[in-house]
Amino acid sequence: MHIIAPSILNADFSKLGSEIDMLNASKADWVHLDIMDGSFVPNISFGIPIVEAVRKKTDKVLDAHLMIVNPDKYIERFAHAGANYITVHYEACPVLEKVLGQIRSTGCKTGVALNPDTPVKVLEPFIRNIDMVLIMSVNPGFGGQSFIPESINKVAQARELIRREGLNVLIEVDGGVNSENGKQLLRAGADVLVAGSLIFNASDPLQIIDNLKGMHSNGIS
Ligand code: DX5
Ligand code: ZN
Repeated sequence: MHIIAPSILNADFSKLGSEIDMLNASKADWVHLDIMDGSFVPNISFGIPIVEAVRKKTDKVLDAHLMIVNPDKYIERFAHAGANYITVHYEACPVLEKVLGQIRSTGCKTGVALNPDTPVKVLEPFIRNIDMVLIMSVNPGFGGQSFIPESINKVAQARELIRREGLNVLIEVDGGVNSENGKQLLRAGADVLVAGSLIFNASDPLQIIDNLKGMHSNGIS
């Protein structure tokens, strides 16, 4: 069964507590936290205090997506704040191996994100140290952008790499995901679907989460 990870980037931060209550009452599996530093991406979102606040409100897996330069400086603090998965960007890590070791030493799972222009093959040397590959299906920085269809091929390529190596690595897709492209992504081998604006801009977010969770890669329902 695939995993749904709502991104709170488009949540109403003036009532973050009740937004998390809504997720707790939903079929969402994880909570996706988009950390942006205004340097790796042209936007600033939120940081460690919000991760701590969300941790206090939910037992769900916290999936921290770090869109920041020098992530090595902050990994310990995100782990301490309650993250379970810590995903760094390949493009932001000149010494990726070291950063992945650092994440694992905190007890967190490792994720590596690839921007739309970064090919899957760059991960070959590192795949044994990765618990989750994050295929970005928009250029990172903002919620509500349109899905880049080529991402579906990248998911298939990542699935093939993982299969070839005989590993158990999750594939997550983030950006512009909906129930149409969602089915194609599941068929290509995705395990975790992130959705932000689709959920938080909806009048009935629980229904949207239900739809995403109930999707089948064979197209039924
Ligand atoms: C983009 C973020 C995504 C994004 C998801 O930089 O990593 O998590 O906010 O939001 P939607 O689903 O609106 O594209
Ligand atoms: Zn994200």
